[in-house]
Amino acid sequence: MSAAVPAEASAAVLQPSEPVSDSAISVQGPDFEKKPSLQELLKSYERIGFQASSLGTAIDIVNRMRKWRLSDEPISADESEDPLSSEIRAQTRCDIFLGYTSNLISSGLREIILYLVKHKHVAAVVTTAGGIEEDFIKCLGKTYLADFHMDGADLRRRGMNRIGNLVVPNDNYCKFEDWLLPILDTMLAEQQATGEVWSPSSFIRRLGKEINNEESVYYWAYKNDIPVFCPALTDGSLGDMIYFHSFRNPGLIVDIVRDIRALNELSRKSKKAGMIILGGGVCKHQIANAMLIRNGADYSVYINTGQEFDGSDSGARPDEAVSWGKIRAGAESVKVFADATLVFPLLVAATFAQD
Ligand SMILES: NC(=O)c1ccc[n+]([C@@H]2O[C@H](COP(=O)([O-])OP(=O)(O)OC[C@H]3O[C@@H](n4cnc5c(N)ncnc54)[C@H](O)[C@@H]3O)[C@@H](O)[C@H]2O)c1
Repeated sequence: MSAAVPAEASAAVLQPSEPVSDSAISVQGPDFEKKPSLQELLKSYERIGFQASSLGTAIDIVNRMRKWRLSDEPISADESEDPLSSEIRAQTRCDIFLGYTSNLISSGLREIILYLVKHKHVAAVVTTAGGIEEDFIKCLGKTYLADFHMDGADLRRRGMNRIGNLVVPNDNYCKFEDWLLPILDTMLAEQQATGEVWSPSSFIRRLGKEINNEESVYYWAYKNDIPVFCPALTDGSLGDMIYFHSFRNPGLIVDIVRDIRALNELSRKSKKAGMIILGGGVCKHQIANAMLIRNGADYSVYINTGQEFDGSDSGARPDEAVSWGKIRAGAESVKVFADATLVFPLLVAATFAQD
């Protein structure tokens, strides 16, 4: 014997929808029957959903940063008294500020960062101390693939240092000391002779010149005159070496004031500014803070694993930076919640590597 479906249950389950807007995009994954190329596969990310779609948005924003020219925009009020020539306007691009945590230079993202710096795709770099020294150390000895679960005490006995699932032989740091200390002696002698003190960026530039090795990110930064900022230059092996040097041959001065001025002025004078920031901490905030000086970044791409529930700056989404004036209201921005080692190679493949 059948009974009527309860009306309230039917109404609850079968509630009709509003009409879907004509501009709505349906979810759709890639079709491997069609053997998509890498570019076709990356294009399909936009419609996969979740973080894949955020990566699709990041690709789109980075391509907009790359395409922008001052000539795309009308002459602004502050430029109208002494406008730039149309040739200069057509050549003036968006300045891209690239930030990354130290571990990414330890990883194979180093070679991708080198590609960007070598081909002048970025206007400035901000990283932490390990992000500087690990690049030079890799010119002196290799970093090896290992395992997250290796025993720390055993590694310590064997003189191996672990970074995630990578290991660096301690000998590499001894080679770094042998390479660096005579350079610090020369830098100190130059400072004493001229009265000119070093800043973190001029220090890094000098090391980039001294390494004289095309496998180094900072060799290319030196060659291409791309400033590299590292506000806490001493928080790593570089700090250990500077500490040792301060006993052997005291007096070296590294001035952070010159660098905050240089970074903020670069941001202030950029006609358009974009941030690409891999990871959080100092590299993320120092770039965002420099953007405040220009009343906010015009484009922002964050790739990090940080979460916002703890109030950390590392985990903050772009909208928090809008509230501080570090990203312009209405500017294009995205956060991709992911390990940068997974996502950044794909982002570069779909953007900078297309030139
Ligand atoms: N190889 C090294 O990692 C190394 C070496 C020497 C010194 N140090 C020092 O350790 C200190 C802390 O390092 P830090 O500020 O560079 O960053 P960090 O390692 O403290 O990371 C900061 C945040 O970035 C995010 N993040 C890190 N790795 C990520 C990834 N692969 N993908 C996505 N998001 C990621 C996470 O949210 C993390 O909490 C620095 O002062 C640095 O100089 C690090």
